[in-house]
Amino acid sequence: MDNFTYQNPTKLIFGKGQIDALPQEVEKYGKKVLLVYGGGSIKRNGINDNVMKKLAEIDAEVLELSGVEPNPRISTVRKGVEICKEQGVEFLLAVGGGSTIDCTKAIAAGAKTDIDMWDIVTKKEAATDALPFGTILTLSATGSEMNRGSVITNWETNEKHGWGSPYTSPQFSILDPEHTVSVPKDQTIYGMVDMMSHVLEHYFHQATNTPIQDRFCESVLKTVMETAPKLLNDLENYEYRETIMLSGTLALNDMLSMGLRGDWASHNLEHAVSAIHDIPHGGGLAILFPNWMKHVLDETNVGRFKQFAIRVFEVEQEGKTDFEIANEGIQKLREFWNSIEAPSRLADYSIDEQSVDDMAERTVIASPEFGNFKKLTKEDAAAIFRASL
Ligand code: NZQ
Ligand code: ZN
Repeated sequence: MDNFTYQNPTKLIFGKGQIDALPQEVEKYGKKVLLVYGGGSIKRNGINDNVMKKLAEIDAEVLELSGVEPNPRISTVRKGVEICKEQGVEFLLAVGGGSTIDCTKAIAAGAKTDIDMWDIVTKKEAATDALPFGTILTLSATGSEMNRGSVITNWETNEKHGWGSPYTSPQFSILDPEHTVSVPKDQTIYGMVDMMSHVLEHYFHQATNTPIQDRFCESVLKTVMETAPKLLNDLENYEYRETIMLSGTLALNDMLSMGLRGDWASHNLEHAVSAIHDIPHGGGLAILFPNWMKHVLDETNVGRFKQFAIRVFEVEQEGKTDFEIANEGIQKLREFWNSIEAPSRLADYSIDEQSVDDMAERTVIASPEFGNFKKLTKEDAAAIFRASL
């Protein structure tokens, strides 16, 4: 294992009716609250009414920022920062999925500095503080509810970047699986692909002696795979939603990366695609991840792919070479994602050869090499995109 320090400051408040904890949690930080949400799902499914009732219990003064886009934009972050500064907001409450939470993280940091948040997102500058914020998660996918990361898009320059800081972990996150029963089938699929991809990003690493980390990863993957078909046949089932909700959080709260450095090339590739084509993150990953696997598989790393195939997909070993076993594992992942109706080709989003060079260029915009399991370049990015057409 690599040396590591682990600290996760987010208080996780999980289960049915846990919104009851909201007033006492918010009150610790102040009563002037900016409620941040997306395109209105929280108004349609009743979550907003419950939140407002709970905030009324402490006589909170509630301001609102609505309309956070899926793939949240820097323009919306700037709007939120302005509200915070002009109105003296004391606490931010994100109610929604990863996009709303990521946008809130950027607003929280932006409210405490005169630096434009895009310079912080692009890592030209660093965050030095942030307003406190909490989240009420309504979509299981990103893990943003229990990590410090945030992904923001600049629609003027077609760039999408991940950033994070020691100040941008939520103070608390309320996770009630009932809040996710209204998530439509397609977003439920993208969410499950995203959390599986987070586990896979951790799984493909170069650290040695990681048996506990590997088995944590394998059990999260197997749990999501076992639950996914059942949930997709019964979207309102509380227990399936509950299992998926906890899986999504564990997949990216840094617990799986203790003592190792995950790969993250597939996320770089996907962010480049959605920076130009504004596609759902999980949809992009379902297309790209198996093609990344095929591209990087070689004699130096075949053992890890073989372990993945055997332990996660129970691929039979007899009479097969290591490469055959490894490739069968990759194929089984593709088949599993096909079976839950995740997209499998960029053409599913009408993306064709014409975009390849542009997407490859954007993949390496931050640095000429990307990926930690295997270092890749712009040429590799283009090859993976071509294989994904
Ligand atoms: O905007 P509203 O109206 O709320 O609708 C949303 C949105 O249209 C809807 N939705 C959310 N909860 C719902 C619901 N609809 C019905 N019922 C509910 N309970 O779902 C749609 C998608 O929401 P979004 O927040 O965009 O999805 P997700 O959670 O997948 O977030 C995606 C964003 O997170 C970034 C992605 O790149 C993308 O920008 N990521 C963030 C990460 C992080 N911070 O750690 C890591 C990830 O790898 C990822 O990159
Ligand atoms: Zn992701």
